[in-house]
Amino acid sequence: MKIESLPRIHLATLPTPLDELPRLSEALGARVWMKRDDLTGFALGGNKARKLEFLLADAIQQGADVVVTGGGPQSNHARMTAAAARKVGMGATLVFFGNPPREVNGNLLLDELLGAEILYTRTDDKRETDRVIERVCGELQARGRKPYVIPRGGSTVLGCCAYILAVGELLEQLRAQAVTPDWIFITTGSCGTHAGILAGLKYFGARIPVYGITVSRPIAEGKPRINLLVQETAEFLQTALSLEPDDVILDDAYLGAGYGIITPEARTAIQLVARSEGIFLDPVYTGKTMAGLMDLVRRGVVVRGATILFWHTGGAPGIFGHPDDFKVASHHPLREA
Ligand SMILES: Cc1ncc(COP(=O)(O)O)c(C=O)c1O
Repeated sequence: MKIESLPRIHLATLPTPLDELPRLSEALGARVWMKRDDLTGFALGGNKARKLEFLLADAIQQGADVVVTGGGPQSNHARMTAAAARKVGMGATLVFFGNPPREVNGNLLLDELLGAEILYTRTDDKRETDRVIERVCGELQARGRKPYVIPRGGSTVLGCCAYILAVGELLEQLRAQAVTPDWIFITTGSCGTHAGILAGLKYFGARIPVYGITVSRPIAEGKPRINLLVQETAEFLQTALSLEPDDVILDDAYLGAGYGIITPEARTAIQLVARSEGIFLDPVYTGKTMAGLMDLVRRGVVVRGATILFWHTGGAPGIFGHPDDFKVASHHPLREA
């Protein structure tokens, strides 16, 4: 199977820019380039737009009329999936773990704007999300609907294929700018983006180490998941993409108290990137990854002056789900004349 011949709809504005960030580089002590997948455009952007181009095309081929997926109430994946479903004339059902939050803001507000059907599992056990998704699909089918399930995070073989192409896009841009990164830094959640990037580097025969900062899964769960996704993608494409054990680098040191709970270091990283480059990272994913990069350079694990490709995967709407974390005492009283 050739990726280029897979069914695909158009969602993302591609190629996304590759930007050098001189002010951030100076502050960090490393030369930072950023792949701007926060600017994929559609429905406020993010990495999921690339995956959804293939997933929604598959849903159409299978004759679906409603897309069902899940995650946390501030899931970027859920927001973009709902928007993509709407764009192709389908319904969207979103299953969120936990209870309805007191405030409807950020991604959740956008989900409501998109008219998604929203359900809560009423437990923090994330695995329950998958069980509820299955039950909801049964109920939809009983009502004559044709649901198409997208697993949490859209991390499937098709999602990986999207990131193989993204690597091709990146490699072309790096060549044009004569940039050779020492590292790619990526945020690892449901693992599809990380797996797709590793698969893409193998696919195009490029050797750049990929440093994944995990923001939800423990390393013991993430590594086998990435290996499995790459292996399944290789089988699907009938091509060799075999990973060496050392290829999968995952670091959970920046997770803090857990998924979706911001750390003081992520908050500082988000402020630094906003104030040095005018770019918004997010509190759940990319902020923690930047906090990790900053710490690793500070400790010399990433050598000072190294060239870093930071893959910005989006998520800025999540900032509005954390208003108290970003308020500063900026309302100074008027000076007396
Ligand atoms: C902004 C953002 N960055 C990174 C990720 C992680 O991508 P993946 O789930 O493919 O590991 C997500 C997943 O939802 C995301 O929303």
